[in-house]
Amino acid sequence: MRISVLTLFPEMFAGFTSSSIVGRSIDRQIASVDFVQIRDFAKDRYKHVDDKPFGGGAGMVMKCQPVVDALNSVRSDTSHVVLMSPSGVPYTQEKAHELAGKEHLILLCGHYEGMDARIGKYVDEEISIGDYVLTGGELASMVIMDSVIRLLEGSIKEESAADESYENGLLEYPQYTQPREYDGECVPSVLLSGNHQKIREYRRLQSLLITKEKRPDLFARYDLSKEDIRLLERFKKEGWSTYEEEAQS
Ligand code: ADE
Repeated sequence: MRISVLTLFPEMFAGFTSSSIVGRSIDRQIASVDFVQIRDFAKDRYKHVDDKPFGGGAGMVMKCQPVVDALNSVRSDTSHVVLMSPSGVPYTQEKAHELAGKEHLILLCGHYEGMDARIGKYVDEEISIGDYVLTGGELASMVIMDSVIRLLEGSIKEESAADESYENGLLEYPQYTQPREYDGECVPSVLLSGNHQKIREYRRLQSLLITKEKRPDLFARYDLSKEDIRLLERFKKEGWSTYEEEAQS
């Protein structure tokens, strides 16, 4: 997959594209990332990319011409253009999967108070990464790149992605590693039992309960299986006792 980022601040991406899973995926040519400096397309001698808003108001607005020319320098028939914007559609894991299927993703990062509204005609969609305002779209585009690149085939192990929060509509169960006891807190005994069926049940129940507590909105939308209902009903009657006994047997 190719990702082109249109930005006024390409230097912000240096650490991001050379580190961790994103860096490794680029090294392995699973993804390629290139940058287009929007300012290179400014036409006046001072390389202005913004101007005062018509009708008055605070701040500056990015002009159509440099942005559209920058877009046209990289776009082709297979490109999918996304504008990073606090007034875009909220980003989700489902959208990450959809974008991961694109051949060429163009991420357009705004700065200043926003973009001339007429730029909307040249983009396929507007995405927001949350209900807060960033100084520019650069951090938002990194969030999108990170979440998309890790879904590409060969980027991370398939199993590690499948169990993650949001992948099946629920939050992830809690994980533990060595030591077995830390500061008086022990790893749940069922995880040491070697009983894989019990461990699967325990993790499933944890996922259900954690989602119910932390994200009641996700839980309400989730379609519980017969097995989920059985696990939840048993938990209501017996608490964690089924899983605690396992370690002793
Ligand atoms: N640009 C500024 N704030 C943003 C947000 N919350 N999401 C995406 N792009 C942005």
